[in-house]
Amino acid sequence: MVKVEKFIPKAIDRIKEKAKGKTIVGLSGGVDSSVCAVLAYRALGDLFFPIYIDTGLMRKGETEVIEEIFADMNLQVIHAKDRFLEALVGVKDPEEKRKIVGETFIRIFEEEARELEAEYLIQGTIYPDKIESEGGIKSHHNVGGLPEKIDFKDIIEPIDDLYKDEVREVAKALELPDEICERMPFPGPGLSVRIIGEVTEEKVDVVREANAIVEEELLEKFKPWQTFAAVVGKGTGVKGDVRVHGWIVAVRAVGSRDGMTAEALELPWETLKKIETRISGEIPSVARVLYDLSPKPPATIEFE
Ligand code: XMP
Repeated sequence: MVKVEKFIPKAIDRIKEKAKGKTIVGLSGGVDSSVCAVLAYRALGDLFFPIYIDTGLMRKGETEVIEEIFADMNLQVIHAKDRFLEALVGVKDPEEKRKIVGETFIRIFEEEARELEAEYLIQGTIYPDKIESEGGIKSHHNVGGLPEKIDFKDIIEPIDDLYKDEVREVAKALELPDEICERMPFPGPGLSVRIIGEVTEEKVDVVREANAIVEEELLEKFKPWQTFAAVVGKGTGVKGDVRVHGWIVAVRAVGSRDGMTAEALELPWETLKKIETRISGEIPSVARVLYDLSPKPPATIEFE
């Protein structure tokens, strides 16, 4: 386990050493980028510019939470939903989707950086992201999915030696609110990796609502390492007296230490039934709800 008291001053020194001018930090609202933002704020003061891009692929209420928590740090919020959805039109391949989201992200940061005349970018890559990208398992948007040509003098990754539980320790020591410290991991490409096939506004709306229901039913009661819903396709169902071709939503709830391996949680039947009833009742276009039993490996935690 990392020694928090030693890690924090060292990370701040490292940022000071590398960032010799205005620096932007991309906030996602997750614990990783939040820790980076506080470290960067302590290291750079006025040279620090936190930016939050609302990709339209965020969880329900996420933008509002972030706006509230980081209001004091001069947070800039960029609403870019249309740009992301347009870039994803017709794209079905999972890796291509990840690359497009990563690239759109970085292009928007570059545009902001140019406007601010910022030269450095700080990213919240953690150790498992780095290892999995190096192993060619999946391109995490903040590592392998980066476009080839980047307009920054340097990209700084202050927590790339830490595991998730270590990042949470550091977050507590930095006095970030519990809401951030305990936050479940959320992938950089957002809800797009929880949609099999093309990303459309309709599917994003379905998956966002389903995610919110799953979180409400499972987070507090079962403390899963991660839980969410994904739209995995369409199937036939009956709603009222009418046959419909509705969305199939899969529910995932896993236990893990660091995301590199995971086990599906053994949830009580009545909990699963309640989730099914709520999702298919509250989201009219859903016809079927599944529970994913797969461990990692062979499955990954996310669907794409
Ligand atoms: P997988 O799906 O590879 O995910 O088993 C392991 C953990 O990483 C999260 N994840 C990501 N995090 N950028 C991130 O910052 C990404 O592109 C990304 N993809 C997956 C995933 O939610 C899980 O916690």
